[in-house]
Amino acid sequence: MALCFHFLFPHPFIFKPNTFTNTTTTIPPSRSNFTIKCTNLSSSEPQPIFNSVQAFAPATVANLGPGFDFLGCAVDGIGDTVSLSVDPNVHPGQISISHISGDNHNKLSKNPIFNCAGIAAIEVMKMLSVRSVGLSLQLHKGLPLGSGLGSSAASAAAAAVAVNAIFGNRLGVQELVLASLKSEEKVSGYHADNVAPAIMGGFVLIQSYEPLNLMKLKFPEEKDLFFVLVTPEFEAPTKKMRAALPSEISMQHHVWNCSQAGALVASVLQGDVVCLGKALSSDKIVEPKRAPLIPGMEAVKRAALQAGAFGCTISGAGPTVVALIDDEAKGNFIGKHMVQAFLMYGNLKASAKVRQLDRLGARVISSTKK
Ligand code: HSE
Repeated sequence: MALCFHFLFPHPFIFKPNTFTNTTTTIPPSRSNFTIKCTNLSSSEPQPIFNSVQAFAPATVANLGPGFDFLGCAVDGIGDTVSLSVDPNVHPGQISISHISGDNHNKLSKNPIFNCAGIAAIEVMKMLSVRSVGLSLQLHKGLPLGSGLGSSAASAAAAAVAVNAIFGNRLGVQELVLASLKSEEKVSGYHADNVAPAIMGGFVLIQSYEPLNLMKLKFPEEKDLFFVLVTPEFEAPTKKMRAALPSEISMQHHVWNCSQAGALVASVLQGDVVCLGKALSSDKIVEPKRAPLIPGMEAVKRAALQAGAFGCTISGAGPTVVALIDDEAKGNFIGKHMVQAFLMYGNLKASAKVRQLDRLGARVISSTKK
């Protein structure tokens, strides 16, 4: 095994994946001047094939009602963007976050180990054993934080796809989801129902976590499906919303939720939007515990159904509420009623969007060759 010694220089916002031990390491500034690292050079290291790459990852709706932590889908037109470049000013094997823009960017850390995009990028660098080039990352937040639209997952997915692309797409979907899961684990909990659809697009079923087994559920191309996404001005941190859940459930609720999740999967595959909405609306385990934590949620759901939605539930951990319909104009009408209900019953301002399924998932949107 070939070994070499490697000098690291202190930089509070730069991270070096430790390729020898395969663990993440931060260098305390006071002790880091001449830290010596052993680096294993025996495995093959990919070289960048692009100078820079820009990747986009879409928003996601996790849970879809009865599918807590195992069902999710991607929605089009909104998401986060990561621009990544090979940077000779960044020490080889390290990554630096140079700029964050967009929604609430001031709330996010530029330290890669505390940033969703940074954590996922580091994981992909580790998986690829990158150590001879440094990378610089810029993140543009198109998604509001803590809104239930998979904001952290979109940042992680875009970063994972960008790092993989710059080195020639050596990793597959499974590895990219695992890298992004590291980020979710750190910020909110180990769940893949945002990161998997953010990377894969469409509807995704997580059949198991150990080992990670993902199934893409194909919604028929010719069918119309619109998501009405209504986001109130209210933060519902995923960690807090997970803490509200019961640790045990009754057999009756187990049977009910499993049958509804089965119906939801069948409806996706058949393109039956009415049945899909009914199943999405039917969760008896998670939604009843979380809805009271989102002011006005129950009234908003009633308003959506009265306005003609096929179904309605909390998107992810909330506070966004999602309703389903098969027509864009009807979706706008339903959205207006939901916004009014948030104001009237929750005393919250809210905004509505009507979106379709994003079938592609995270993708490279531009690149420059070396
Ligand atoms: N399944 C997760 C939860 C999704 O509901 O906590 C969070 O976006």
